Amino acid sequence: MDSGAANDPFPHRHLLGIEGLSRREILYLLDHAGAYADQTRGQTEPRLRGRTVINLFFENSTRTRTSFELAAKRLGGDVINMQAQTSSIKKGETLIDTAMTLNAMRPDVLVVRHPESGAVQLLSEKVDCAVINAGDGSHEHPTQALVDALTIRRRKGRLEGLVVAICGDISHSRVARSNIYLLNTMGAQVRVVAPRTLVPAAMERFGVEVFYDMKRGLAGADIVMMLRLQTERMHGSFVPSIREYFHFFGLDYAKLSVAKDDALIMHPGPMNRGVEIDTEVADDIDRSVIRQQVEMGVAVRMACLEALNRDARASAAT
Ligand code: NCD
Repeated sequence: MDSGAANDPFPHRHLLGIEGLSRREILYLLDHAGAYADQTRGQTEPRLRGRTVINLFFENSTRTRTSFELAAKRLGGDVINMQAQTSSIKKGETLIDTAMTLNAMRPDVLVVRHPESGAVQLLSEKVDCAVINAGDGSHEHPTQALVDALTIRRRKGRLEGLVVAICGDISHSRVARSNIYLLNTMGAQVRVVAPRTLVPAAMERFGVEVFYDMKRGLAGADIVMMLRLQTERMHGSFVPSIREYFHFFGLDYAKLSVAKDDALIMHPGPMNRGVEIDTEVADDIDRSVIRQQVEMGVAVRMACLEALNRDARASAAT
């Protein structure tokens, strides 16, 4: 493994998004995450020993926050969880004040989730440590896209050439955006499938095919990735009713029947059963990899924490 400065495989101070990462950098993270996923606990070297990771979440989270905490602990790091009440946060000044306060405590990594797109980048410009974006508004959620890619790769053996249909609330989804960047970079064929009200204008510019009908969008798909209706980001009404939404866009066996026979079903969670996905489909142990996605979460976050702590990276041949 080459970790020489001249040929640094991950020459970034922060992980703010998938946009801008090269194929090689994505592969570097996926390969390392894959290796962590294969390790049993006793095999993990404490590469973050003596380092501090602060989880700073201005929005609710179950999977992402917990898996960052577990990831840092498995690598021997110290973790602090900061709960920020969204209601008491005033944008701009308060965010920067918080950043400066935490910066003064000299953490090594700040993992930040924030309801405003761009807030994590702004914060990263004010601090001395590495910053990982754990989701900013409807902008990016890079570690989730890496989780999804690793899950797909372990089941299908590749990303290149796969037809991936991302379905549901595309407009408000940072998961959709990060996945589109990653999958396009890795040579998959990306489709988005949603009602017209939930697809941003000029979506084709992202290099995806747009479908407004599930049967057409899912035809021949290798991967069917469902998204939650992000009602907390909606101002006004985007769907006539939940019942109608499920009827036209909820994933059930009838709609799934046009995808490939071995198509995988994915969802980043939290799921709204009976809204975007039928409960039986979600729990189908042959087709659904939703649980595996959660399982990959820790390994991916370990790889990201390691990549940003350059001098903690694997240097000796293992
Ligand atoms: C997603 C998120 O927060 O963006 N969840 C997650 O991180 N697993 C998706 C969502 O909230 O619907």
